[in-house]
Amino acid sequence: MRNNIIHPGADQLVYEIREIVEVANRIAKTGIPIIWENIGDPVAKGEKVPQWIKDIIADIVKDDNSSYGYSPTKGLLATREYIAKERNLEGGVQIEPENILFFNGLGDAISTIYNHINPASRVIGPNPAYSTHSSAEAAHAGSRHITYRLDPKNKWYPDLNDLRKKIIDHPEVSAILIVNPDNPTGMVYPPELMKQVVAIAREFDLFMISDEIYSNLVYAGVDYKKLAAVIGDVPGIAMRGISKEFPWPGARCGWLEFYNTARDAKFARYVKTIMDAKMLEVCSTTLPQKALPKVMSDPRYYPYLEGRNAKYKEKSQMAFDIFSKIPQLTINRANGAFYMTVLFNEGVLRDGQSLKPKNQQAAEIIKPLLKTDKLDKQFVYNLLASRGICVVPLSSGFNSDLYGFRSTLLEQDMDKFKEIMNTIAGAVGEYLGS
Ligand SMILES: Cc1ncc(COP(=O)(O)O)c(C=O)c1O
Repeated sequence: MRNNIIHPGADQLVYEIREIVEVANRIAKTGIPIIWENIGDPVAKGEKVPQWIKDIIADIVKDDNSSYGYSPTKGLLATREYIAKERNLEGGVQIEPENILFFNGLGDAISTIYNHINPASRVIGPNPAYSTHSSAEAAHAGSRHITYRLDPKNKWYPDLNDLRKKIIDHPEVSAILIVNPDNPTGMVYPPELMKQVVAIAREFDLFMISDEIYSNLVYAGVDYKKLAAVIGDVPGIAMRGISKEFPWPGARCGWLEFYNTARDAKFARYVKTIMDAKMLEVCSTTLPQKALPKVMSDPRYYPYLEGRNAKYKEKSQMAFDIFSKIPQLTINRANGAFYMTVLFNEGVLRDGQSLKPKNQQAAEIIKPLLKTDKLDKQFVYNLLASRGICVVPLSSGFNSDLYGFRSTLLEQDMDKFKEIMNTIAGAVGEYLGS
């Protein structure tokens, strides 16, 4: 190329959650069956979309006039009216259908919001971080994502002193991102803590972003509030979607809710930019938008989610009981979403620890990869080659300065789930003793 066509943020675009799959696929070719504990797609892990949801979608598909055409840029009006009504009934900040914008999945929304914020403005996010946010934010600025610490010794709650300090140290920070319930930790923000985060945003004249894709996957007995309930007069964006709930990730359907837009002219202009950008794309997929109010208003919807949440809660407890027996680990129960993060305590991982690979080819595949200085990644490769279990390392997969890994609570068969967790725990014990 006669010119340098490479974007300054190109090196920031990494998505290890899927990159590990390439290694696992090579290992699979050596004859080792893989247990995929890396991907957060409930459908891929055997979660069945209920027949009644499929029937609703099938009826829409059979109707010539309802889902084959474009939809309005912001999304179908009836769907936005439904969402606004439900939102307003919950109390807290009130919205109109015009304050909602549909996307082709939240991944699309995430990339759009970071692409259209001034490159000199930064969004601070949690560490460990969900990499779609942290990579997109880093790429927009051409520099590493700025993060605040989630504290593993305090149930993964955010360290508010660290958040405040980073905001002071980085005057370019313009917004605070929270993911609630959180991916990868399964942590749910207690409402009081959310209010304190919002108070920091108010104090420093920042806006809030809350990724709430798991908001209907909060376990029984856990106190949960959406951003809208605590935001008061601070400008903010909530992100929601159907990928995890229905679950229908293949629909590519998510949306943004904009709060208190009129309270700040710069925020209003930024929101308009996001709307204008969507206008250039015409609109998002129509079919899932058409299905959304029909599914969510069905009396079977919330009982269905309760059933799923009860199973995740049981698995979260099971995994906690298994891993908390290992003193070199820190583990917290998940309270929402369907992940859990296992953390290696400081100093317990060393270069040269190993597990015996199942076969020689697998040993050859991981050998060059083990040269990495990320010690949790070394464990993950060893686990893959020796037990055929694929999990995601915390350091590279979730932009973290901690060593650990994320596994999922998605396995449908309870006995099999227990066996997988016990196998991983056994591997951890052997690895740390080696
Ligand atoms: C926290 C979080 N936000 C957004 C997404 C992306 O969801 P979508 O399928 O709507 O792109 C995911 C997917 O795993 C997620 O975990």
